[in-house]
Amino acid sequence: MTGKQPDVACMVRGRPRIARRGCQTRMKPHDEQTSPDPQLEGAPSRMAVAGHPLHPMTVTFPIAFLLAALPADLAFLLLDDAFWARVSLWLLGVGTFSGIAAGLIGTVELLWVQGIRRRITSWSHFVLAVMLLSVAFANWMLRLPDPVVAIYPWGVYLSALGALLTALAGWLGGKLVFHHQIGIWDENELDPKTPGQPPPTAPVRLRKH
Ligand code: HEM
Repeated sequence: MTGKQPDVACMVRGRPRIARRGCQTRMKPHDEQTSPDPQLEGAPSRMAVAGHPLHPMTVTFPIAFLLAALPADLAFLLLDDAFWARVSLWLLGVGTFSGIAAGLIGTVELLWVQGIRRRITSWSHFVLAVMLLSVAFANWMLRLPDPVVAIYPWGVYLSALGALLTALAGWLGGKLVFHHQIGIWDENELDPKTPGQPPPTAPVRLRKH
């Protein structure tokens, strides 16, 4: 490969351009390409074990349990079998408390890492998550005295609302990771010692094939 061939990707007026070796402009995250504020670039996670963020690991449990409560309620309504009412009660209890644990980890992250707390998406995700956990907790409490009687109509409505809120909160959480590069540890792009702070400028190399 000769020195004249382009091998470095640069951002020129917010658009990716192939430029010659020596361009020093950093490639910015997808939807922040026009942001003039370097604080709004990606931020690595602080609540992590060996670089693996804890919040994404723990949210899988509330997502699975709280989404499954709605089909369990519907199974009870269709089959009229009290087994499904008890399944739903347990799904809501375990989903709520695992969600509170995951939410506490996320909240520490939100308050600790400047690059996360400066984003509106982070706060929207937080508000939706708190709404979700409140609805799930109320749904669980409603059923504690008698899981069968509580299912219709309020139990099933709250389970449907909880499923919707889980989807919305999960969507915004995914947006934080996949669009805003939150919790992504890329040593070429981010310095894990200073979350929220971009490292010294480093050009992005293109693969040669
Ligand atoms: C209650 C307070 C919460 C806060 C402050 C919070 C904050 C965050 C933050 C900062 C991230 C970016 C990744 C990271 O830094 O680890 C994230 C991702 C995410 N959050 Fe939350 N979160 C909360 C609760 C929840 C709950 C209850 C759920 C779901 C039931 C949830 C679902 C997700 C998902 C799905 C992701 C994307 C994970 C990935 O794709 O890797 N979050 N959240």
